[in-house]
Amino acid sequence: MSTLEITNLHVQVSTNDGPKPILKGVDLAIASDEIHAIMGPNGSGKSTLAYSIAGHPDYEVTDGQVLLDGEDLLSLSVDERARAGLFLAMQYPVEVPGVSVANFLRTAKTAIDGQAPKVRQWVGEVGSAMERLRMDPSFNQRDVNAGFSGGEKKRFEILQMELLRPRFAVLDETDSGLDVDALRIVSEGVNRLHDSSDAGFLLITHYTRILRYIKPDFVHVFVDGRVAEQGGPDLADRLEEEGYDRYLK
Ligand SMILES: Nc1ncnc2c1ncn2[C@@H]1O[C@H](COP(=O)(O)OP(=O)(O)OP(=O)(O)O)[C@@H](O)[C@H]1O
Ligand SMILES: [Mg+2]
Repeated sequence: MSTLEITNLHVQVSTNDGPKPILKGVDLAIASDEIHAIMGPNGSGKSTLAYSIAGHPDYEVTDGQVLLDGEDLLSLSVDERARAGLFLAMQYPVEVPGVSVANFLRTAKTAIDGQAPKVRQWVGEVGSAMERLRMDPSFNQRDVNAGFSGGEKKRFEILQMELLRPRFAVLDETDSGLDVDALRIVSEGVNRLHDSSDAGFLLITHYTRILRYIKPDFVHVFVDGRVAEQGGPDLADRLEEEGYDRYLK
């Protein structure tokens, strides 16, 4: 049993006009095996929350805590956070020219486990994970995300998650831009990890359609840098019908 505990998190970025506060006291606790969905208007700070948890250097934590099983996550470097079991699927996955998918996956796995995976077994694991996510094996030779379509990038994020098997996965709009088949394939990937491990999930989304495939235990409404309301799955349906007006001043 693990917990990711975010308490009173305040985060700012530096701009030409000086520091700009974005997260204004986020409180959120995710226990292992739980799926939490976060929904909120554009610009409310959802990706900022994801980046801050992962350790993006542009986001300065000015107050609050993020604890993973009681350990101060914010004092760890990005790679230490990953080794502690944290995974982020980015809203806009970055292209890494010059680094092949095969090389990237093996290097990440080696870094997280502290030892290189056995070659034959690893190649098999990658192959079957690609098959499940309907990614052609030729992707192995391509550079990370370079020239991938939007949906291919999102599927590759889930491939990484399935192979690295994190304790906590933050998925930032992994459902955006997916066709109906890809949405199902990506959701199945999430459900597979959920069913075969006790990983906790933070699912950032704008749409209830992914929540038809992935059943959240909790839904949080995120407005102006903090959680404005928490509820069960029916809260998502209400948001889709009513929008965010009642949370905005
Ligand atoms: N480096 C930066 N400089 C200036 N403003 C920034 C910077 N990074 C983020 N912001 C601002 O912080 C706010 C929150 O951005 P964020 O990407 O976290 O929103 P979001 O909730 O993920 O939105 P979306 O639903 O559109 O993905 C936005 O208004 C954004 O312009
Ligand atoms: Mg975002």
